[in-house]
Amino acid sequence: MTTIANPADTLLFETSVEGRRCLRLPELDVPKVDLKQALKGAKLRAKPANLPEVGELDLVRHFKNLAQKNFSVDRNFYPLGSCTMKYNPKINVTLLCSPGFTRAHPHLPEADLQGHIELMYNLEGYLREVSGFPAVTLQPAAGAQGEMTGLMVIKAYFEEKGEGKTRTEIVIPDSAHGTNPATAALAGFKTVTLKGKPDGSVDLELLKTLVGPQTAGMMITNPSTLGLLEPNMVEIAKILHAHGAQLYMDGANMNAIQGIVRPADYGVDVMHFNLHKTYSVPHGAGGPGAGPIGVASHLEPFLPVPRPVKNEDGTFSLDSKRSKSIGKVRSFFGNYGALVMAYIYMSQLGREGVRRAAENAVLGANYLRVKLRNEFKVFTDRVCAHEVVFTDAIQAKNDIHALDVAKRLIDYNIHPMTIYFPQANVTNGEGAMMVEPTETESKQTLDFFVDVMKKIAQETKENPQLLKEAPHNMPVVRLDEVRASTQPQLYCPMCMA
Ligand SMILES: Cc1ncc(COP(=O)(O)O)c(C=O)c1O
Repeated sequence: MTTIANPADTLLFETSVEGRRCLRLPELDVPKVDLKQALKGAKLRAKPANLPEVGELDLVRHFKNLAQKNFSVDRNFYPLGSCTMKYNPKINVTLLCSPGFTRAHPHLPEADLQGHIELMYNLEGYLREVSGFPAVTLQPAAGAQGEMTGLMVIKAYFEEKGEGKTRTEIVIPDSAHGTNPATAALAGFKTVTLKGKPDGSVDLELLKTLVGPQTAGMMITNPSTLGLLEPNMVEIAKILHAHGAQLYMDGANMNAIQGIVRPADYGVDVMHFNLHKTYSVPHGAGGPGAGPIGVASHLEPFLPVPRPVKNEDGTFSLDSKRSKSIGKVRSFFGNYGALVMAYIYMSQLGREGVRRAAENAVLGANYLRVKLRNEFKVFTDRVCAHEVVFTDAIQAKNDIHALDVAKRLIDYNIHPMTIYFPQANVTNGEGAMMVEPTETESKQTLDFFVDVMKKIAQETKENPQLLKEAPHNMPVVRLDEVRASTQPQLYCPMCMA
């Protein structure tokens, strides 16, 4: 059957017709200027850019259609595990767009930045309260930069103690987020992998054999990438502290525990938050986000500058004169817009709301775990945190794997869950399907997801080919995702012609 191409679905280069325009300007009524003369020295194009020539309506339809193809939380369910694709209240952006924020320049004198410094000071206060740490910095612009800042702070601490050269190792459980070992390596540490127990928790006896005078610290993601809370945090902290080592907690998943427990009370020394996961700053498309860190008091002197401080007379200042500080990790005040959104979100929720958000996130994930446990194997079938890891062990008997299930979800207008993360070496070779519903989804949406997943489980047995060829309603179907990330083509060949 021949397909009939709709011009609204084709590339602008394909609909381009020489001489077609969106807008025709009237004849010049001022003297013509020679560009070469007027822009002397500028690198002007030798020939005009090869741009498509289209009418306004074609252009509008093209971009409207493209926008509709964009999958977003605002349109459909997005249970992408480990990414917390929750709904972010529109008021965050509405208020952030007010001129007081958008027109403020970071070089304004301190006297004119009072409200901004106060906002940062108060946000640090919220994060101190929710984590239990006596000091927080808002500077890091992402979770991974928070990790880097935390490790730099730990390094500076050991250097001051004269142990900078000997504390060379960071222990990392195999259920940690991938950024943890990457950051440790980038910060110049040797990473030592700690194999988890079959139930996903830390093997304390094994940990004891790995920690010694060479250990700078341990980086633990809690809740882990298996969506599980670590039951032995206090013991883990004791083991590390007995050897003078530091405990770093990846707190990007605070949405499971905020308002219920405080990581500093476990004995954690440093932790980063992901404001773009937990605190309602939009997550995805490369940011911008924010990865503040909280630290115990012995690490506070090493935090990056500047630090917002409240003076005795009630005014606010930015303190950059801190002799032990690791210096600046980000220009100006970090990703300020992200900080404003997190501040609005936290002040709207308040203490009770923050706790309720965590409770609902955990409730939603456990609801899905229990509702789907007969159709899909739950990797560790115990009470989970804010996300649940299923595997494709049952479906593999019909040669259907995590990728096929994820692709079939697209046909039901649900964004695929995160697949093959945690990696196969953690899940004993089974394909992981990590589902994070988030606290913002209604029971109706969760039930819709359950029904769809059950239908997919049935299709696996009755018509596996349907899954193998999914998705069926997309302009492109099975992309070579490995090639796309290993050999990206970062230019448009048509524009270059
Ligand atoms: C548990 C965990 N740690 C660290 C990160 C890294 O954060 P970022 O992508 O902001 O660098 C993420 C990102 O989602 C995460 O989920």
